[in-house]
Amino acid sequence: MKKLSTIILLATALIFGNACKSNKTEQTDTQDGKTLVLYYSQTGATKAVAEELQKQLGCDIDSILAVNPYDGDYGQTISRWKQELKDSVKVEVNPINVNLDEYDTIFLGFPIWGGTYALPMASFLADNKFEGKKVVTFATFGSGGIENASIDVAVALPGADVKEGYGVRNARVAKAPQEIKSFLIENGYVEGEIAALPEFSEPTDVSDKDAVIFHAACDNYQFPLGNPVSVAMRDTPEGPEYEFGVKSTAPDGSESNSIIYVLAPQGQTPEFTRVVRE
Ligand SMILES: Cc1cc2nc3c(=O)[nH]c(=O)nc-3n(C[C@H](O)[C@H](O)[C@H](O)COP(=O)(O)O)c2cc1C
Repeated sequence: MKKLSTIILLATALIFGNACKSNKTEQTDTQDGKTLVLYYSQTGATKAVAEELQKQLGCDIDSILAVNPYDGDYGQTISRWKQELKDSVKVEVNPINVNLDEYDTIFLGFPIWGGTYALPMASFLADNKFEGKKVVTFATFGSGGIENASIDVAVALPGADVKEGYGVRNARVAKAPQEIKSFLIENGYVEGEIAALPEFSEPTDVSDKDAVIFHAACDNYQFPLGNPVSVAMRDTPEGPEYEFGVKSTAPDGSESNSIIYVLAPQGQTPEFTRVVRE
């Protein structure tokens, strides 16, 4: 019976392609209740992660759309967003295609805007009930921000059990399939086995060699990321991973601290994977 319905689903998908925005599939047995991947994406990075999550979880998917889409270029979006923040605009979003009440676990995805979830997601969270549901965040970003955004989601949804999920820089979305696989297994969302990663070493001062790796990874980012003041390290299957303690000074002279993670696979240019700001 399960086989027959899978064949019917596949045939339907082949006939109708992706014409429907919401995509309902048969759920896998490993999930706790029924699972939905629900996301907002302006330029496609979060959509790519959402679709990969949906594929690996074998669950339903739907997207949140702004009534007045953000269809300008980056500069225009930044201007509109700043104005909307200034005017405390509640961005109008369309109703989604699925009934949230049917789902126990929601993988909730968004781009990071100004260190938290994008405005269309803010409207959606304000207007919908998530009581009693498990909510697993995921996000894409230029440099980082899922940690604070997940705390903000938990504050916005006091009746839900909110877990920080998978985050990836938009420049590294091509790496998402493998990283999502590890993330889902590590956190018990799907079955499978992966080797546990070792702990980072104790932090030490930054050597000249460490500084070269940091700057090779961070200096071509569009905004200055600061200077490393401490470093810890561990080996991963992708190569050595560095955890840099970083100090930054803003143009107004204010100082801030962050942690920047850098992967340095043998023979490849090191790349930072995320910035965790204090
Ligand atoms: C209005 C706006 C604000 C942003 N703010 C941040 C930010 O605070 N931190 C960050 O790392 N990236 C920031 N970004 C970059 C986006 O998070 C990043 O491009 C994301 O991957 C876009 O996802 P999407 O393609 O699904 O829309 C911002 C982008 C926009 C348009």
